[in-house]
Amino acid sequence: MISRTPAFQALLVQAGALLPCAALAVALESFGHGLTLLQAALLQGLLAALISWKVGLARWWLPIQLLFPIALLAGLALHLPPWLAAAAFLVLLGWYWSTYRTQVPYYPSSPAVWRAVQAELPQGRALRIIDIGSGLGGFTMHLAGARPESEVMGIELAPVPWLLSRLRAVLSGSRARFLRGDYDQLNFAEYDLVFAYLSPAAMPALWSKAQREMRAGSLLASYEFEIPAANGIKTIRTTEGGPLLYIRAF
Ligand SMILES: C[S@@+](CC[C@H](N)C(=O)[O-])C[C@H]1O[C@@H](n2cnc3c(N)ncnc32)[C@H](O)[C@@H]1O
Repeated sequence: MISRTPAFQALLVQAGALLPCAALAVALESFGHGLTLLQAALLQGLLAALISWKVGLARWWLPIQLLFPIALLAGLALHLPPWLAAAAFLVLLGWYWSTYRTQVPYYPSSPAVWRAVQAELPQGRALRIIDIGSGLGGFTMHLAGARPESEVMGIELAPVPWLLSRLRAVLSGSRARFLRGDYDQLNFAEYDLVFAYLSPAAMPALWSKAQREMRAGSLLASYEFEIPAANGIKTIRTTEGGPLLYIRAF
């Protein structure tokens, strides 16, 4: 439901902060202490950050809420052409797409992680491997190269990273296949390895889906974010001091 998405709640908070801010600005004006636009934006940002904290939005929303009105003011002061804002909006939309809903933005895993997952794979037979949320396709292309007998694919929700991953595969002659869509629509029973690098918010639903669908002998690997299973999880530290890779065999 959209009203439960943090981005929508953040927008509501900004709208909610507007009225008391405007009332305070008018009251100050009537006492001869009118606010400058910058002071008003600061007040609005402060109030929005305070309300966000009170209603329990994640802590990283607080600086965004604080700076949003000031950034808006700066954008207006720069007199940027309206098409530039529209173009920036479209690029960001294509890049982040449903992040407001999934709460999984793009950040890449590293070759050390790809090699650690590769080392866990069964040898001597062709596998079906999928990266759920494949981003720019680094993991998928690496495994497609390392396991030429296997079918390796990625699925990505956001159009821009998906398009770039397809381009990268074509330009480098990789066998990796990239689908555009939501991994929730897949049947995990069709894969020998499901690799995930998502976010803490995605893990409970991912684990329920994996329990319902994954076949005996298949592997679920999650980088950085713990698989919420009570037991049977193998952990691997892929880089000194870096996050763990979690692997669950079914
Ligand atoms: C942290 S990035 C990981 C990228 C890549 N797997 C890697 O290891 O470099 C997570 C990606 O998952 C995508 N994503 C999030 N939810 C998704 C979903 N339900 N279906 C498909 N992709 C999703 C995001 O758009 C983002 O690009």
